[in-house]
Amino acid sequence: YRTPLLIPPVMPRAGVLTSPGGKPVDYYEISMRQLSQQILPEGMPATTVWGYGAVKSESRRGLLIHHAPSLTIEAKWGRPVRVKWINDLLDEQGRYLPHLLPVDPTLHWANPPGGTAGRDERPPFTETPGRYTGPVPMVTHVHGSVGVGDESDGYPEAWYLPAATDIPDDYATKGTWYDFFAGKASASFGATWGPGYATFQYPNTQRESTIWYHDHTLGMTRLNVYAGPAGFFLIRGGPAGDRAVLDVRTGKPAVLPGPAPRDGDSFPPNKTYYEIPLAVQDRSFNTDGSLFYPDTREFFDGVTGPYIPDSEFSPIWNPEFFGNMIMVNGNTWPFQVVEQRRYRLRFLNGCQSRFLILDFSDIPGVDVWQIGNEGGFLAAPVNLTAGYDNHLLLGPAERADVIVDFTNVPVGSYVLGNIGPDEPFGGGIPGEDFEPSDPESTGQVLELRVRPAVAPDPTTPPQYLVLPAITPLPPASTTRPLAMIEKSAVGAGEEGEPPEPIEIEGPVEAQLGNVIDRLPVSRPWAHEITDNPTRGSTEVWEFYNTTADAHPMHVHEVAFQVVDREELVLDEEGEVALPLRLSGSVTPPEAGESGFKDTVIAYPGQVTRLKAQFNNAGQFVWHCHIVEHEDNEMMRPYRIGPRQD
Ligand code: C2O
Ligand code: CU
Repeated sequence: YRTPLLIPPVMPRAGVLTSPGGKPVDYYEISMRQLSQQILPEGMPATTVWGYGAVKSESRRGLLIHHAPSLTIEAKWGRPVRVKWINDLLDEQGRYLPHLLPVDPTLHWANPPGGTAGRDERPPFTETPGRYTGPVPMVTHVHGSVGVGDESDGYPEAWYLPAATDIPDDYATKGTWYDFFAGKASASFGATWGPGYATFQYPNTQRESTIWYHDHTLGMTRLNVYAGPAGFFLIRGGPAGDRAVLDVRTGKPAVLPGPAPRDGDSFPPNKTYYEIPLAVQDRSFNTDGSLFYPDTREFFDGVTGPYIPDSEFSPIWNPEFFGNMIMVNGNTWPFQVVEQRRYRLRFLNGCQSRFLILDFSDIPGVDVWQIGNEGGFLAAPVNLTAGYDNHLLLGPAERADVIVDFTNVPVGSYVLGNIGPDEPFGGGIPGEDFEPSDPESTGQVLELRVRPAVAPDPTTPPQYLVLPAITPLPPASTTRPLAMIEKSAVGAGEEGEPPEPIEIEGPVEAQLGNVIDRLPVSRPWAHEITDNPTRGSTEVWEFYNTTADAHPMHVHEVAFQVVDREELVLDEEGEVALPLRLSGSVTPPEAGESGFKDTVIAYPGQVTRLKAQFNNAGQFVWHCHIVEHEDNEMMRPYRIGPRQD
């Protein structure tokens, strides 16, 4: 532990615009660039990554810093944020930069026509047969933004290439849905879209919450996000905000630990913060410091290709990826000095496939309380120390807002551990149902160096916090049964066309689908829309997980309430029996799943139910947030309101 934890400063604003209705809109210009970053400890080689950063600042103090993960967007409740997202993956001569990682051209992916793609050879990007060496498509999604227009949601097929000087004129520079959304955005906001950028707007009318942003390009999200582009987006204020949290002893507003970084703070920060966001991600590195990501199926189980008969292009996609090191806010082996007082830590599981079980139990005297999740504050604070053995389970993309009380922790250095598995997660108890992660590497997240407090702690003890009331959703008009399915198949497909499934030996692919007559029916990404809630309706979505693993299921556009989970009837082999049958054994949501969420763990052999209100017409997606799954058919479009396909 040699590197101080980086607490990301605030992303500088480019200015304030006025909406057509006369309201102020916070405006940002953010590009994604390639940069070199010291991720490994000092003295080891630096790593080439991609990071978002502001290219324009209204204030002289604003930090034009590109970093992975990037600076934090601080949004105020009720005040829209508008971002010009620039794909700036260019070299100094304005020529495009190729991908840092091996793209699998056999998946159903963005596949910019003109590049090497699938079974076609398309000049001029054919230096390595079967490998895409063309420019990199990107499109940014703000994960957890509720009520955003579909033109601003980062639809996976609304990607765009950088405005490079060496991309030929006849080369398609944007995805099939780009023009549709660009036209809509221009009509609604007067936005300008152009070569290499798109301008998206976020309403920020949801509850105060910890949301985040990352790339979402079809079939390459796992690679783009692994290369770096991600960051926190915090919404503060509103009726259910901080100031609505009361102290039960006085009935007055409680005091939560702060401050968090403010606009203009330095990089790296040199101030004391008591509110800290922590993006926990897993990575592997080559000896030269570059990111390692498998470029062959052999990495998974020693199976060699080719998997597609009559093709020189072998799939290189792996069903999951587990990095062998933990990175927090862009550094491996970081430490943070903390005082003997309370801190507010906002955790994000930003890993590829890894379920984290953060473990505070090696910190003597610590008292840990969860107060929020993806959609804001919980119904009531949850004592993880007393009720959950000091453990915090986070599936990929889940967040937790946590108060950690170090008041009674003796001065000394302690490790925040991780006892989630170094392999797919199926639920259960660490050490009994699965082997916890390697205690020498991925079992360690962060070193906490506890020092005496410099001043008395003014914050409210978490047991006295009264969190803002949760408004229940209206009764549902529709129950929508959906399925998670495992298939031994890979598909090759052009953009807009369904992949052709081929039975293979080796890694399995997970898919989504519908449940029809109690049977799971798989639907690839390109299948027409089957899920089409009426605008304004409230629905219950049921995730029937017929696979062997847990999947973190994410629904765009809405914040949902977890209703319950029910065991499915299994057959003699312990697999989900078909036709699907409910066992009647129902469990309520965990305490940390109260309030509103945007990602929920669907366990194998269970149906997980959630409830949401679908208020805003448009075309969005729902998917598994194991990004390897998402990239290979474990994602579906859905549409609120009339279909447009
Ligand atoms: Cu975090 Cu659809 O993504
Ligand atoms: Cu999955």
